[in-house]
Order: sequence, then C-alpha cells, then structure tokens
Amino acid sequence: MTTLTQLPADYVQNPHEVHDRLRAEGPVREVHLPRGLKVWLVTRYEDAKIALTDPRISKNVQAGGHVFELHSPPDAERRQPDNSFAANMLNMDPPDHTRLRKFVMKAFTARRIELMRPRVQEIAAELIAELNDGDEVDLLEAFAFPLPITVICELLGIPIDNRDEFREWSNTLLSYGTQEQIAEASGKMAQFLIGHVNRVANEEPDDTFFSALVHADESGDRLNHAELVSMAFLLLVAGHETTVNLIGNAVLALLRNPDQLQILKDRPELIPASTEEFLRLEGPVNIATFRYTAEPVELGGVTIPADELVMVSLIAANRDPAKYENADQLDVTRSAQGHVAFGHGIHFCLGAPLARLEFDVALTQLLARFPKLELAAEPETLVWRDSTLIRGLHTLPVRLA
Ligand code: HEM
Repeated sequence: MTTLTQLPADYVQNPHEVHDRLRAEGPVREVHLPRGLKVWLVTRYEDAKIALTDPRISKNVQAGGHVFELHSPPDAERRQPDNSFAANMLNMDPPDHTRLRKFVMKAFTARRIELMRPRVQEIAAELIAELNDGDEVDLLEAFAFPLPITVICELLGIPIDNRDEFREWSNTLLSYGTQEQIAEASGKMAQFLIGHVNRVANEEPDDTFFSALVHADESGDRLNHAELVSMAFLLLVAGHETTVNLIGNAVLALLRNPDQLQILKDRPELIPASTEEFLRLEGPVNIATFRYTAEPVELGGVTIPADELVMVSLIAANRDPAKYENADQLDVTRSAQGHVAFGHGIHFCLGAPLARLEFDVALTQLLARFPKLELAAEPETLVWRDSTLIRGLHTLPVRLA
C-alpha cells in the first residue's frame, strides 16, 4: 500500500477510513488537504491530547504569519484575513486568551447553564408542536438548527428574525467557498454584529448576559469594541454550528442502529449520559481549529519543524482503537468519558455545558414525541458538508411518527 500523502477529494464524505489508514501508517503525518494545503495531521488519541496542550503549538496563527482564522477554510492559497473577528479567544495564547475567557467563564458554568433548562425545554417543545405525524421533514432545518440558534440569539440579545441570515453567513464561512463568497458573508456578519454591539453599548446596562458583557469591568479591565464583536461572532457561530450537527449526527446514528435506539426509548433516563457517546462517535467538529509550531516539536515519534500548521482530528482521536474498544460502534451504555469532541486543555469548549443541555433536551423530546421516527432517504444518498472543520450533514430527511 502506498503512503497516503494527499487526502482524497471525497475525504469529507468518509473521513473515518482515511483516519484509520493514517493512524496505522504513522500517527503524525504531513498531508495535503483536498484543496492542496500542506498540514501535519494528528490522528491518535494520545498525540491529540499532547498537541492540544503543548504551549509550543500555538493558537495565535496570525502572529505566526499564517492568515487562517476560524472562518477561513484551508486552501492552497493563503487568503488575506478579514480581521473583523480576529480578536477572539480561540485565536489566542495566554495571557491574551486567559484574559478574554475570564469575561465569559462564569456565565457558562454547568450550574449557571442548568438554570436555562426550562427555557430550552420550552423552545424545543414549541418547535416539536409545529411538527406532525406523517410529515417528511429535514430534521436539521425543522428542529436541530432552530433550537440552538434561538438559545444563543436570546443569550446575545439578537432578534431571532435574523437567524436564517446567520445560518447562511456562517455556513459560508465554515465551508469551502470562493474568496468573494467568504468576503461577502464575513462583511455582512461584521456589519450586523458591529451594529448590535453599538446598540447594546448605547442602552442602559441590565443584567442580561450580553449587556453585562458589553458593560463589564473585570478588575478594572474592559473588552474593547473589536473584542466584543469577535466574542459575539465566536459565541454565535460556535453556539449553533456544532450543536445542530451533534443532534443531526446522533439521530442518524440511532436510526442506523435500531437496537441502540430501542435502549434509549425504553430507558430515556440514559439520554444525558449517552450524550458523551454521541460526542465520541459522531462529534460535530472533525479537525480542531488551526495551530502552528512556534518551534520544532517532537510528536508521535516525528519532529515537526517550526512554523508548520498542525491539525488535530478530534473525530479520529475519538475512534482510536487504542483508547476505545469497538471504537466504530455506537454503544449508548458505554462510558465514553475522556473523549476530545470538546477539545482539550485551555481551549476546551466554553459552551460544553450548554451543548450537553441542548442535546439532552432535544433528544428526550424528539424520541418521546416521535418514537417511530425513521429515515426518509437511503443512508448512502446523504451528503456531508464540504468542510474539514464541521462534520455534519447537508440535510437529514426523516419521516415523523
Ligand atoms: C471551543 C466543540 C458547542 C463555544 C471549542 C473547541 C471544540 C468545541 C472542539 C476547541 C477548538 C480548538 O481547540 O481548536 C464544540 C462542540 C459543541 C460546541 C462539539 C457542541 C456539540 C459550543 C457552544 C458554545 C461554544 C454551544 C457557546 C455557546 C465555544 C467557545 C470556544 C469553543 C467560546 C473557544 C474556547 C477557548 O478558546 O478557550 N468547542 N463546541 N461551543 N467553543 Fe465549543
């Protein structure tokens, strides 16, 4: 078998086979992504955890002369960055990262997020009430998308009427697109968020999350305008692009594994704990955001030279057979603790408690109301989004019953 140096053009449609090969051939490998960009791809669980925590592997890709950001997809051409959202914590190393994360940390603890449960349940119930037995719908459009976008828009004080625009802009930013498409989406999103921050800044402070953040004064420190816009962008995009696909990927996995579906229908009290298994098996973030080596780093038995791009595949790490038995199988009763679907180390997902809450509520209500839910398309015809960051379907056609 020849060594894999170029990821196949259809990589995003079936990344797991590619990861299995890479893991077996050599855990840390220099590969070309489908559009040509050369990166070091990490596929083993242990290496992934090291790569995500080694301070020599930096998140400050701009300081390293790399122009990639959360929203710039990898490409052979290095794109000019749009700096409107660059001042976000996911783009930074300590101490800048620590400073930004401190402003929002307290609002996202599991205890604070649990207080949102009644409202999340209410939103889910309203969405479910609009669906009827016998309907054939795209579950992403009808349920999995509106739930998290409504929650995050409420948290940020953004009118929900704008949600379809957000979805379009953010889909464009996280997928492969032309430079013009990306510039247009990014410009519109920036314009909207700048207006939103200005509006909230000019209003009397109140105790809602975003107003408190705009007017926050943490030990005499404030977020400047660019940081507020970047924070709103990060929370808005991270707050829905991921959870929608966790719900979609999990429902697909259950419909393809009826025995596992039956277990959760019989024992819905297992749903909260099973969230970890869905995150492990079908997490919505394939490759964590870009990192680069600030100096040469030895990882997985190879030395990555300085100034190289490092990409850690979270979905590959989570299916590493050295970490999990029968790693490719869904087992809703297993203890999947330790998975890296939310990342690892200082950038560990800030929104993890919210994502877990939304998922638990969504799956519980969906299975209770439509226990005979079924796929309305052949599994082979389902198409995955053209993104190395997000692992999620374009549409998930289901029949409700
Ligand atoms: C960071 C996954 C939901 C906000 C991350 C990272 C991952 C991740 C893997 C780290 C990326 C890296 O190190 O390159 C997920 C998954 C979610 C989810 C799988 C849902 C199933 C959310 C939600 C929010 C959120 C609902 C906000 C409301 C953030 C933020 C960061 C982050 C702010 C940056 C943290 C930092 O840099 O310190 N997420 N996320 N995420 N996530 Fe999430």
